[in-house]
Amino acid sequence: NKGNYEHYMQKEIHEQPESLKTTMRGRLIRGGSCKAKTVLLGGLKDHFKTIRRSRRIVFIGCGTSYNAALAARPILDELSGVPVTMEIASDLLDRQGPIYREDTAVFVSQSGETADTLQALEYALENGALCVGITNTVGSAIARHTHCGVHINAGAEIGVASTKAYTSQIVVMAMLALAIGGDTISSQTRREAIIDGLFDLPNKVREVLNLDQEMKDLAKLLIAEQSLLVFGRGYNYATALEGALKVKEVALMHSEGILAGEMKHGPLALVDENLPIIVIATRDSCFSKQQSVIQQLHARKGRVIVMCSKGEAVSVCPGGLGRVIEVPHVEDCLQPVINVVPLQLLAYHLTVLRGYNVDQPRNLAKSVTTQ
Ligand code: UD1
Ligand code: F6R
Repeated sequence: NKGNYEHYMQKEIHEQPESLKTTMRGRLIRGGSCKAKTVLLGGLKDHFKTIRRSRRIVFIGCGTSYNAALAARPILDELSGVPVTMEIASDLLDRQGPIYREDTAVFVSQSGETADTLQALEYALENGALCVGITNTVGSAIARHTHCGVHINAGAEIGVASTKAYTSQIVVMAMLALAIGGDTISSQTRREAIIDGLFDLPNKVREVLNLDQEMKDLAKLLIAEQSLLVFGRGYNYATALEGALKVKEVALMHSEGILAGEMKHGPLALVDENLPIIVIATRDSCFSKQQSVIQQLHARKGRVIVMCSKGEAVSVCPGGLGRVIEVPHVEDCLQPVINVVPLQLLAYHLTVLRGYNVDQPRNLAKSVTTQ
């Protein structure tokens, strides 16, 4: 049921304030006057000891689910106290990469049925790792075959392009980082700021959804382009990859997410007056580096569109050069949840304007059950 919406993708994008609330329901504890704020993940409570003692935590997934893990990686690095690595499921299988008994392997999958991820799970089980699932589908193969896990509870996702599952996956992995980290004194202020940020996140997502018309206007401008680059780094490297994935899979436009730190190592050669480039430069520890990326793109007459924190258009666009997308500012590790929304909207409007099938892009299936 699409309700008042024309497409499932549109409905699922706009549903994110509610889906995120459901994802967090019963799992965030604000506590009384003297009780600390904490996270409760019922499905993992008997396993945290083992997870904290593991030699490494390896996140495994495909497509958008892999991108979600990548978006959560910085906060997992910071809080978990265990080395964190990432694997694309098919690549892990191609390489028969190392998975050990002392590892915790976390399988991220909306459908819980993706063949590559499922086969990587069988492989990790054979190798004796503790296997944890993060899935949206109760009773799915991944939910059943993992030792334990977390349901993201985002509600059924019908559009082939994953949107609300992505933001809920990131939130679950941020909660996972908080839970694994436990309550060490040194990180208490940081943890509480993240928990406050999580409580407020649905409101901030509602706010960023107000950019709908602005993204439609941008889509009109980009409708006939051959290609679109998205530059990100740090917390928002994954946002660049995910934004580009949405544009290519539904709008059928070539798009590439690029790690901004790699710009000078090749991509800079592509820059000219025609190729549109979205640069994600919201306020965080990488901000000044992104400012310098923007300057260098302008110096080469690049066609730059900057995503920045609200009120900061002047500091990212000196002299009013180029377009800006201003988004609400949230805690750095949660910013990817906000920043992906305008890119989802852009991909959606580009698709409709270009006349393609939004909910069922050609050649794609919702759940990839064959290899
Ligand atoms: C569970 C209930 C929820 C209820 C809540 C009350 C289910 C599905 N969830 O939620 O309805 O409101 O208790 O406390 O009945 N699991 C895996 N692999 C996965 C995902 C989950 O093994 O990929 C396991 C978990 O380890 C857990 C069970 O499935 O044993 C349910 O997980 P989850 O729904 O996340 O647990 P709760 O949030 O506690
Ligand atoms: C992109 C998309 C795919 C899936 C991938 C994994 O919008 O939907 O990239 O993310 O096929 O699917 P799940 O998460 O079901 O394992």
